[in-house]
Amino acid sequence: MSERTTEVLVIGSGIAGLAAAVGAAREGTEVTLATKATRPEGASSWWAQGGIAIARDDPAQFKQDILTASSGTADPEAVEVLVENANEAVRDILVETLDVKFDTNGDRYDFGREAAHDEARILHVDASTGKHIHVPFLNYAADHDHIEVLEDTAALELIHHEGRVHGAILETDGEFEPYYAGATVLATGGIGDLYPRTTNPNGSTGDGIAMAALAGADTEDMEYVQFHPTVCVADDDPFLVSEAVRGEGAVLRNGTAERFMPNIHDDAELAPRDVVARAVKHERDHTGEVVLDVSPLDFEEEFPDLATKCEERDIEWDDGIPVAPAEHFLCGGIAVDEWGRTTLDRLYAVGECSRTGVHGANRLASTSLLEGLVWGLRAGEDAAGSDVEIIEAPELLERDPNLPPNFAREKFIRLRRVMDEYVGLERDPQELNRALSVLRRLKGEVDAYVRTRTSRSLYELRNASITALMIARAASENGKSVGTHNLITTESRIEGD
Ligand code: SIN
Repeated sequence: MSERTTEVLVIGSGIAGLAAAVGAAREGTEVTLATKATRPEGASSWWAQGGIAIARDDPAQFKQDILTASSGTADPEAVEVLVENANEAVRDILVETLDVKFDTNGDRYDFGREAAHDEARILHVDASTGKHIHVPFLNYAADHDHIEVLEDTAALELIHHEGRVHGAILETDGEFEPYYAGATVLATGGIGDLYPRTTNPNGSTGDGIAMAALAGADTEDMEYVQFHPTVCVADDDPFLVSEAVRGEGAVLRNGTAERFMPNIHDDAELAPRDVVARAVKHERDHTGEVVLDVSPLDFEEEFPDLATKCEERDIEWDDGIPVAPAEHFLCGGIAVDEWGRTTLDRLYAVGECSRTGVHGANRLASTSLLEGLVWGLRAGEDAAGSDVEIIEAPELLERDPNLPPNFAREKFIRLRRVMDEYVGLERDPQELNRALSVLRRLKGEVDAYVRTRTSRSLYELRNASITALMIARAASENGKSVGTHNLITTESRIEGD
């Protein structure tokens, strides 16, 4: 195997990975950014709709909203880092460097409002903000003299020794080789592939979390999986209907056309996301369906991208858009400090795969792009300048294509079924134990193949099975129902509470 080296290796090409790459490159450091994606749509950031929240001129209220949405479980020091850096990071990178044209009203920004925000503070471009940020950011990184982008390239293992990380084994076109780095930044995104219905792109298999955990890094808050309440389920190609639509006045109605949220929370449709998601599930279970009634607003005028998506699927939005909750964001992940440093030397984690403490048990809407941007820049800056050390890389067995037909597909179906039934929006302690034993067995079956074969899809399955087990384990160890970790008993389920 040949040896490649770089000063900073970034793994992942969403907003957090790009910010880390730019943060390090600005220090004059040579950066290699490896991404599984072959198109911008391969990163979750591209799919972000609502936008990016900033502090405007009231940082204290922004901090309070984040803490309140998390039911007081977010880490105030991490929230401080996010909010105090928000306006500057957005101005510097998004406005001045990338020239993102956020929507305006006359000569002022048209700030949007979403659930659990006390004021309108969300910069957006229509309801497709992600792609308007992500595409110029990718182009900027690709054109940067200090950044090399490797597309269609997966990280399989971290190279580590005695608590220090020295890069990763990268795979492209079935060939794998060690890539040594002075510092390694994981920015691998979320875990959507662990659930049957998700807003994440394919390939969200928790890769960074699994690789970091295998190398010995700490993780935290893994039980806090956030479900988005309003994903359109009119056909088998679900899509997110942004909270911004509720922010503009859309309401939720159940199968008997009743508006149910005012009976559940004072903020009705703009209650914290976990509250709305559980209410939508409950109403679907008991009345057959929930629709988003967009008649209070001019839907086509205000959300043209979403209107187009409805039209493409022959959805008559005047009749309400059928919605259900779907996995959306992992609030926990690889434990990091205020600079994105993990518990392993020279290993950083940023974006959704990391746990900064900003989200606690429930993330406030439109803070994930911001978190990725702020921590990405900080981690890149901190990671710059470490010397590369070559150590012995782990031996991976030569690729063996002879996996049983449908092996990964069948295992993923089983994994998703378990996560959906037992580790979803509501969790019963007994069922969590059942999930743990099924997932342990499944991981054992996958490990048996990983010991004799190397392929990207097999490693993705390995990563998914490790991450699923970590989520189920964390959920079973946390006896306190809070935010996205909602414990129920079998009895209350039977009574339909
Ligand atoms: C949305 O547009 O509803 C999603 C925003 C977010 O998850 O932060």
